[in-house]
Amino acid sequence: MPSDIKGLVDVDGEWHRGAVRGPVTLPGKTIGILGGGQLGRMFAIAARRMGYRVHALDPAPDCPTGQVADVEWSAAYDDIGTAVKFAAAVDVVTFEFENIPYETLQAVAEIVPVFPAPLVLDTTRHRLREKTFLSTHGYPVAPFRPVASVDELRAAVAVLGLPCILKTATFGYDGKGQTRINSLDDVDDAWHRLGQPLGVLEGFVAFSCELSVIVARGRNGAISTFDVAENVHEHHILDLTVVPARVPEATKKNAIDVAKSVAKGLDLIGVLAVELFLVDDGTPAGKLVVNELAPRPHNSGHFSIDACATSQFEQQLRAVCGLPLGDVTLFRPVAMANLLGEHWHSADVGGEPRFDQALAISGVKLHLYGKTEPRPGRKMGHLTATADDVETARALVLQARDALTPTDRRRRD
Ligand SMILES: Nc1ncnc2c1ncn2[C@@H]1O[C@H](COP(=O)(O)OP(=O)(O)O)[C@@H](O)[C@H]1O
Ligand SMILES: [Mg+2]
Repeated sequence: MPSDIKGLVDVDGEWHRGAVRGPVTLPGKTIGILGGGQLGRMFAIAARRMGYRVHALDPAPDCPTGQVADVEWSAAYDDIGTAVKFAAAVDVVTFEFENIPYETLQAVAEIVPVFPAPLVLDTTRHRLREKTFLSTHGYPVAPFRPVASVDELRAAVAVLGLPCILKTATFGYDGKGQTRINSLDDVDDAWHRLGQPLGVLEGFVAFSCELSVIVARGRNGAISTFDVAENVHEHHILDLTVVPARVPEATKKNAIDVAKSVAKGLDLIGVLAVELFLVDDGTPAGKLVVNELAPRPHNSGHFSIDACATSQFEQQLRAVCGLPLGDVTLFRPVAMANLLGEHWHSADVGGEPRFDQALAISGVKLHLYGKTEPRPGRKMGHLTATADDVETARALVLQARDALTPTDRRRRD
C-alpha cells in the first residue's frame, strides 16, 4: 500500500502484513444492516453504489434505510427468530443503531460475521462501561460517578461540584436522558427524571470547543482518520460542524492520536466516532477530554460525503467487508448544518421548506432522510456547503438553512 494515502497509517508497524480476518465480502454480496435510520440510509446508498445488495432490519416499516435498501425487514429488535432469518439471508452484518439487544447481536453473530464486534458495541453504548474503559486505558474523561439512588446522587454532587450533568447509563442520544444540575435543589427532580435504575453523574467540562474524529479500522488492522471536525451543539444536539477544525495543528494531532489509539484498544473493525472536549489549560494545544464513543458513522462525519475522496459510509462498508480503506483526503473546507423538525414550518405558518432557495446557493448540497413527520429535535436531514475557506463554508450553510424559511414565515417562539 503506498504510504502517501492520507490518513492511512501504520499503528502496529506491520499492518500490511496483517491478515484480513474472515473472507473478503466483495461487491455483489449482501450486507445486512441492523437499524433503519439515516445512518443506515447513507450507508445503504454507499453500498448499493458499489454494487452490494442491502437488507435493513428496523421495527418501523418504510424507515429511512428501508426506503433505499433492496430488502426491508420490519421486526422488533428483540425478535430473535426474525433476526436469525435476516442473518441467514446476508453475507456480513453491521449496525447503525446502538441499542440493538446484545442477545440479538449474539444470535446474528453465530450465523454471519458482525462488524464491529458485538462486544465493542456493548462497551461503548453503556456510559459507565465506556467511561471505565476510557479511564482505565488512560484517556482523560470528565470526572464521573455511577449513581443508583437519590442519596448516591446527592453524595456524588457533593464530590463533583456544581454544575454537573446526570446522564442515563443507556439509551441516551441527542441530549436525551441528560439533566443538568445547577443547584442542590435540582437533585430530587434530576433523579426523578432519570427514569433508569442507574445513572452516571458527570462533572461539567468548561470546554472551549467540541471536536470529533471519525476513525476507521479495517480487518487487517489498517487505521484511517478523517480530518478533525469542530462541532457546535444546541440544546445538546449537534447543530453545526466545520472542517478543518479551527484549532492548532498540535491539537488536531493529539485528537487523531487519541482516536487511533481508542480504535485499536477496542479492536474495532468498522468506523468509530470519538467526541472530544477541548479545554484551555494554558498550553498551546490545550487538553482533550473524551466525551463519547460511537462505533458507527456519526452525524459530525456527514461532511465527508460531499467534501472527501471517501465518505464515512463508504469507509464503514470497506472496513466491514475487508476491503482496503479509502483515501480520506478533504477536497475542500466544508460546513454541515443539521435540519431538525423545527426547521420545518410550524403548522400555523404552513408550507414546505424552500429547498429551492437553499439550493440556489453555490456549493450547497441537500440530504434528506425520508422522514415524513418533522417533530422538534428530530433529525430530518442536513445541508453541507463547501468553499475555499471554512468561514465562507460556514456562512453559506447557515444562509442556506435560513433560506428554507422565508422571513415572513419564521416561527416567533
Ligand atoms: N460533562 C459535560 N460538560 C459539558 N457539556 C457536556 C457534558 N456532557 C455533555 N455535554 C454537552 O451535551 C452534548 C451531548 O452530550 P453527550 O454526552 O455527547 O450525549 P449524546 O449521547 O446525547 O450525544 C455534548 O456534545 C456537550 O455539548
Ligand atoms: Mg454525543
